[in-house]
Order: sequence, then C-alpha cells, then structure tokens
Amino acid sequence: MLKNFTVNKNKLFIGEIDAEALVKKYGSPLYVYDAEIVKRQYAELVNNISYPKLKIHYAAKANANAEIFNLLKKEGAGIETVSIGEVELALQAGFAPSEILYTCSNISREEQEAVMKKNIIMNLDSLTQVQRFGEMRPGGTIAIRINQGIGAGFHKHTITGGPESKFGIDSSQLPQVQQLAQKYKLKIVGLHQHIGSNILDEAIFMKAIKKLLATAKDFSDLEFLDFGGGFGVPYKPEEKPLDMKSLGKQITNELNRFMKQYGKELIVRFEPGRFLVAESGVLLAQVTEIKTTPYKIFVGINSGFNQLIRPAMYGAYQEIVNASAVDGEKENVSVVGNICESADFFAKDRPLTQCKEGDVIAILDSGAYGYAMSSLFNARSKPVEIVVEGKISRVIREEKGRLYD
Ligand code: LLP
Repeated sequence: MLKNFTVNKNKLFIGEIDAEALVKKYGSPLYVYDAEIVKRQYAELVNNISYPKLKIHYAAKANANAEIFNLLKKEGAGIETVSIGEVELALQAGFAPSEILYTCSNISREEQEAVMKKNIIMNLDSLTQVQRFGEMRPGGTIAIRINQGIGAGFHKHTITGGPESKFGIDSSQLPQVQQLAQKYKLKIVGLHQHIGSNILDEAIFMKAIKKLLATAKDFSDLEFLDFGGGFGVPYKPEEKPLDMKSLGKQITNELNRFMKQYGKELIVRFEPGRFLVAESGVLLAQVTEIKTTPYKIFVGINSGFNQLIRPAMYGAYQEIVNASAVDGEKENVSVVGNICESADFFAKDRPLTQCKEGDVIAILDSGAYGYAMSSLFNARSKPVEIVVEGKISRVIREEKGRLYD
C-alpha cells in the first residue's frame, strides 16, 4: 500500500499520470511534484491549528522552486528564508517583506544590513546580531531566536536546540539581550525557536512550545511568537504520521490559554518545510545496470547522491518502488547511483520487485531537501523538475548543468 499515490495495472501513478508516461515525455531522472499533496498538507496545518492569528511561513530551504512558492502563496502562506539569496527569490515570487521571515546564524554585517534594508522580519540569532541591529537602527523593533535547551530531530545533524547547537541565543543570555535592547532603545517584538527537523513526537513539540510561552511572559512588548518548523512525515512504512487533529488541538489550547494571561492575541508563526512538500515529491530514475556479485544485487540507476543526498548524508530511509512493476516477486537489493563514492546509495538490502534495465524506479518522499540539496558533483546534472496537477504536467525547471548530450 502506498500512502500518497495510486497503482493501476501494477504501474505507479502520480496524480493521474503513469510514472512511465512522465519518463517517456520528459526523460529521466526527473523530479515530480504532485500539487494536490502540497495543498493537502497546508490545509492539514491551518485546519487543525485553529488559533485565529496563525501564519504559516513555508521554509524555502526545503524546496526553493518558484512554482512551489507560488502554489503555497496562493494557499495563503508566507515564507521563511535563511539567506539573502532566498530573500531575493521570495521577493521575486511576490511575497511582501512583511510575509518574509529571515533567520540565520553567522552572517556578515553586509548580509544583515542588506536584509534589514529590505524590511524583512529578522529573528536575530546572536548577541552580535542584536548589537549590530542596535548600531544600525537604534530605536527599532527586533525579534530574537532563543535556544531553550530543547532539541529534537531524526538525526544529530538536524537537531537545532540544546548545548551542542550553534543556533539561537542561549536562554541564560537573555539578560544580555535586554541590556543591549535598553542601550539601543530596541523593542523586542518577537521570540523565535526551532528545535529541529522531522519530529514525529507530539510530546517534545508541546514541551518546546510551552517553554517558549513561559519565556514570553517576561517580554511585555511582543507582537509575535514563532515556533519554527520541524513537523515530521512518515518516511518508513511502519512510521505513523503526526496526528494533526490532536497536535493542532493541543497547540490551539495552549496558545489560547497563554494569550488570555498575556492580555493580547499575538501573531503566531510556524515555519514548516518538510511537512508541506516532502510527500509531494518523487524522484523518478531508470535502471541502468544490475550487478549481481557473490554477496549482493546492486540495482544501478541513472541518478546519484548529487540529486538526492539524504540517504548518503543522514542514512535516511526513503521508500523506493519499481514504478514499472509495483507488485510482484521481490528480491533484496541495494539501489545505487552513478556517483564515484561508496556513499552513493538510495537503499541497502531492501526488498524490491524484480527489476530489469529501463524500469522506472520511484524514490518517494523526495519533495523536501531533495533537489534543494542537489549538486553538480562528478559533472552530473541536476534533473528536470515538473509539477503534476491531476492529468496535467508541466516543466517547472529545466535540467541544469548538462555537459554532454
Ligand atoms: N526554520 C528553521 C530556522 C530551520 O532551520 C528549518 C530547517 C526549518 C524552519 C524547517 O524545518 P522543517 O519543517 O523542514 O523540518 N536537510 C535535512 C533537514 C534540515 C533542516 C534544516 N532546518 C533533511 O534532509 O532532512
């Protein structure tokens, strides 16, 4: 059973289109995004967190394709950025500065100044950034990113709170922020935290939210609270999705309780990336060679970690199906790419329906941190990206970096 896509006559369909037909039309490898799934995921958040002053800012880093920006903008999302480049992309896509958040550690004075000049909402990540802001714009309003000691995530690389994390201003240093604020007559109007990525545990989410609310009581000029992203998706068949009904209810209750106490209804922001786009994306590739050794069966495909690095980088699990024959006799295989490193694998010793050269292989849940983390390593190109809306498909980015035809 596939959670997001249908199978018809043993072929995988994305939206209403046969994956093999997409490969025939656009070639392979190919990133395909199902627009309906992005919309569904956005609705999951806004329908279940029923706090009235909620604003969802899509984390651009998950997938910075302009069409994905447009799609989410139409749904009502703002955007969250982490570099001046992403700010530029967001502005080009038509987001107003007031809908754009910017949070980044270790930036140059020049970058900070450039972002400030564009009147983007900045969550200042360090005492240095607060000091600079004061120097550049005394009497201004600021928001700060706090590290409250709580971190979570599926891999140590994606935990962004706690003592090992480079992100945010440690809670113990808040008095220094207040001193700087006094010195430069800055009004602290926003508090931000982001504890990590791909969190499927409701309890840790709620713990972090409650902790930021407790901290917020000591700040009297607040206009918004930003709880970051991190909402997880089930990558493994046995993983359960977040129960957004339950989590949404808990979040809404906590927020309502706090706002009553605080005496004002603040804007509440979340910055989900993965939750909105991961499940919409499929990397389609084709079997190029099958190598049987005394130890293994390697199914080689015409992609590699330059196009999807999550398995190589985090040992991340991504579901893989043979889109040309979804069900059938399975054998344990390792799915590998064409990059010259042993880290170049998509799956190790996993049951997959028997493959032959030319079969279309679908790597599911690749819409977040897939294309966005791709490179031209080994002078191998970045694939075409297309979007599917029901029966219709169209190119949303041409192949990049092809050297040979
Ligand atoms: N806000 C901030 C400040 C962040 O640093 C991140 C992600 C997000 C929001 C969005 O997080 P999400 O909702 O997508 O979990 N490359 C890794 C994920 C790194 C996430 C980095 N920060 C991966 O492939 O799993």
